[in-house]
Amino acid sequence: MNYYPDEIIEEVRLNNDLVEVVSEYIRLERKGGGYFGLCPFHSEKTPSFHVEPVKQFYYCFGCNNGGNVYHFIMNIENLTFPDALRLLADRAGIVLPEPDNREEQEKIRLRKSILDINRAAARFFFSCLAAEKGKEALKYLHNRGLSNRIIKRFGIGYAPNEWDLLSNFLLKEGFDESILIQSGLAIKNKYDKLIDRFRGRIMFPIFDIRGNIVAFGGRVMDDSLPKYINSPETPCYSKGRELFGMHIAKKSREKKLLIVEGYMDVISLHQAGIDFAVAPLGTALTSMQGRMLKKYSDEIILAYDSDTAGQKATERGLEVLNNLDCRVRVLQIPDGKDPDDFIRKNGPEKFKMLIERAISLLEYKISLLKNMHSPDNEESKLKFLNGVADLLTKQENFLEREIIIRKISRNYNITEDAIHAEVERRLKQKQRKEKTTEFYSAKKELKGSVKTYKVGKNEGVRVRYEKMLLALLCRENQLYHKVVNRYEPSDFCDENLRKMAGVLYDKLGTGNDFLLEEYISKLAPEIASSIIHVSKTLSNIDEPEKALEDILQKLEVLKLEEEKKDILMRLKNISNVEEKKQLQKQLQSIIRKIANV
Ligand code: CTP
Ligand code: MN
Repeated sequence: MNYYPDEIIEEVRLNNDLVEVVSEYIRLERKGGGYFGLCPFHSEKTPSFHVEPVKQFYYCFGCNNGGNVYHFIMNIENLTFPDALRLLADRAGIVLPEPDNREEQEKIRLRKSILDINRAAARFFFSCLAAEKGKEALKYLHNRGLSNRIIKRFGIGYAPNEWDLLSNFLLKEGFDESILIQSGLAIKNKYDKLIDRFRGRIMFPIFDIRGNIVAFGGRVMDDSLPKYINSPETPCYSKGRELFGMHIAKKSREKKLLIVEGYMDVISLHQAGIDFAVAPLGTALTSMQGRMLKKYSDEIILAYDSDTAGQKATERGLEVLNNLDCRVRVLQIPDGKDPDDFIRKNGPEKFKMLIERAISLLEYKISLLKNMHSPDNEESKLKFLNGVADLLTKQENFLEREIIIRKISRNYNITEDAIHAEVERRLKQKQRKEKTTEFYSAKKELKGSVKTYKVGKNEGVRVRYEKMLLALLCRENQLYHKVVNRYEPSDFCDENLRKMAGVLYDKLGTGNDFLLEEYISKLAPEIASSIIHVSKTLSNIDEPEKALEDILQKLEVLKLEEEKKDILMRLKNISNVEEKKQLQKQLQSIIRKIANV
């Protein structure tokens, strides 16, 4: 399972603080010595997901998912161990050595070849734009107001309208046919002939955040359809992971990011000096993109078109970003225009004013409400005001609540006191409701955990005590000498625990420390979860020596009882008198031993 040296696995783990990593996915709150949050692995209303900053473990008391930073990433990103390791190494800026495994080496080589071929293709497209064939295309871009400088900065190019110009060029450059296909730059036609995917299109390279070219978008130069053709998903490219323009925007001096809909909007904004604009790649904003946005900015401004599609996208985006606990504002462009149109008509300064005037999430929701119930007659005005009161009860920030109340009071000729009173009434009602549902969900969760505990019991009492023994030894290394002669690694009946005990005893026996935090990196997520579970239950033991004695005695009895069962079985099937006597003697001795323990 591990194709990398142990020291590397440990270095990567130590350089990715679990609290920081988890915080990129969920909101954590400090409580006592640890952090709590809502578990990302099952749905819940009260936080039972716990992160231990010192031990660098996480554990969910609701669904029993637990482990270290590797298990967290494997579970949440649905990755294999090597891929999780690569992600975390990247995150920490650690360069990994070649993996000690053919398949993994092949994967890495393929990714590198695709990036190489993409770079070669981008150069080709760029040179075509400057050549005679690209004249029309260049004119098109100039007509849309793009300067040569911005064309160069974004590496925009042109794919001439021929069947296999690029493919032939790339083959001549020494790239294999298989890479041409796997990169998505070429496809096989029905006669099994290699042809270019992009023909007669303006080419936009799509860079990842580090500046690698991972894909392309190609636009027609007239009204024909489809307007864009994009690279398919490849081992280097997944459209839900990238943001167009991010490799430049991350270097902006502004600590904000502006989200727009299209390639052309991003480019046009950058030309206007707004160098913090980015765009998702033709899909709704994903939480992966949201996390990248959060990491590189203090504030995110959504500037989608104001048509219905844009409004839907705004709402989806708001939801995603809100779940990640980001600061978000919404920029509204007058007259249903997109940012590119707006800037070309009104200039950059006017657009910068729109950025300054971008409204908060609450104001945006109120504006939607206003569109729904225009407050020109009493009945719909009441609906509108009730809607506002409802939104205000969800607003945690008192200052913002106060500002809105003042505004509404002024605009709709209603006293501030009346709005306050209504919000208070709703808050009280909500609290009452929450208390009862909290009670029921706590009851439900308790039942749930009792159930999983029973499932755990079915694994066999002995395995449970074996886990406790290991967990206790991990915590109290000095107890090793009391254990080694009474319960040996070969006594463990569970295979995984037997392996773990082997490593643990070896380390402790040679005077080394055993770090559970390190060791569990190599355990499959389920096993890691259950070991963490046991180590958690043992966390508040006052008298470890006494606990050890209890566990050992229990294990000894269990072991003897199994031996006893075994002998009784054998006695049933034996006719030889001598052997029978022998076994009965053994049985007596076991029974005596059990009594002594
Ligand atoms: N898009 C796509 N495929 C399409 C249409 C759109 O992938 N057939 C994606 C592209 O990423 C595009 C974005 O959706 O940039 C927004 O679409 P649109 O507003 O139509 O494109 P613009 O880039 O704004 O292009 P233009 O201004 O030239 O019309
Ligand atoms: Mn556009």
